[in-house]
Amino acid sequence: MIVTTKELFKHAYGKYAIGAYNINNLEQCMGLFRGNIDSEAPFILQISKGAREYADKRMLEAIIRTADEVFPKAIFAVHLDHGDEETCYECIDSGFYSSVMIDASHASFDENVAITKRVVEAAHAKGVVVEAELGVLGGVEEHIKVDEGDARLTNPEEAEEFVARSGCDSLACAIGTSHGAYKFAGSQGIHFDVLEGIQKRLPGFPLVMHGSSSVPQEEVARINAAGGDLGGAKGVDENQFARSAQLGVTKVNIDTDGRLVWCRVHREMFRDQPAVFDLRKPGKIFMSEYANFIAHKNTKLGSAGMLEKVRGLVK
Ligand code: G3H
Ligand code: 13P
Ligand code: ZN
Repeated sequence: MIVTTKELFKHAYGKYAIGAYNINNLEQCMGLFRGNIDSEAPFILQISKGAREYADKRMLEAIIRTADEVFPKAIFAVHLDHGDEETCYECIDSGFYSSVMIDASHASFDENVAITKRVVEAAHAKGVVVEAELGVLGGVEEHIKVDEGDARLTNPEEAEEFVARSGCDSLACAIGTSHGAYKFAGSQGIHFDVLEGIQKRLPGFPLVMHGSSSVPQEEVARINAAGGDLGGAKGVDENQFARSAQLGVTKVNIDTDGRLVWCRVHREMFRDQPAVFDLRKPGKIFMSEYANFIAHKNTKLGSAGMLEKVRGLVK
């Protein structure tokens, strides 16, 4: 069942976070649904602009609608990840997406407010919810690469003003994480002081943590042992999700980790079984491994076991 994030966030706030996972194809979609059903978790399925181009947005929509039939117990939101204004309107008008993210974080504060407000008005008129972003994350994101020096943490005072003026339903904050497989220099990590400051200014308001992949070192080692070159890859400590959730993070975005599972499965298979050329062989293993990964993440996020608890709350 496709739902908005409104009731999911209300139930989760201060206690746990909902996993928001990106998909690009059938195998990711199957693994994602399986893992959430196995761990009895509500979830957010995210589609980026790049994914809409890669798989054709109509193909993705058909795959997701079918997954909804194959897994009738699933409760999930369909969310546009890092949308520009035009793509937001397209998704809102499609009637398929229950949530969109307008990412105008690279614009000036006032421009970000104005763009977000326009998207909010269009979205709310159709019952769609809106995530906005304030602050600038480091790392690689679709066509944009932000050097760590240009990253800017979210200012709590500005966050309060931004939410009041834009009317957004949730806010992605820059709190030290970054996109991709290379996060944090040295012993840096999540800036809990910034998160605390934002929660004080916006009590009860759902916050979103982007760039939340953990980049498991075991996964990186296996990829490198199978011919990969991911030296120095590093992610967020998944044991910090619980504290983040207590401080108002209700949505945790994870994409890179899923790509690492895909990379490890395929590299190991082609290293160990050089005669294999049937795409279904690694595909089958990937779906199962990705499902296990999702189920594990949901236990760390605290969303595992919440599926039946939220069922009565969502329409
Ligand atoms: O934040 C970006 C997400 O990881 C999506 O990545 O734009 O390459 O699909 P993508
Ligand atoms: P990762 O690159 O850490 O998986 O972040 C994904 C993300 O923020 C998608 O919006
Ligand atoms: Zn992101």
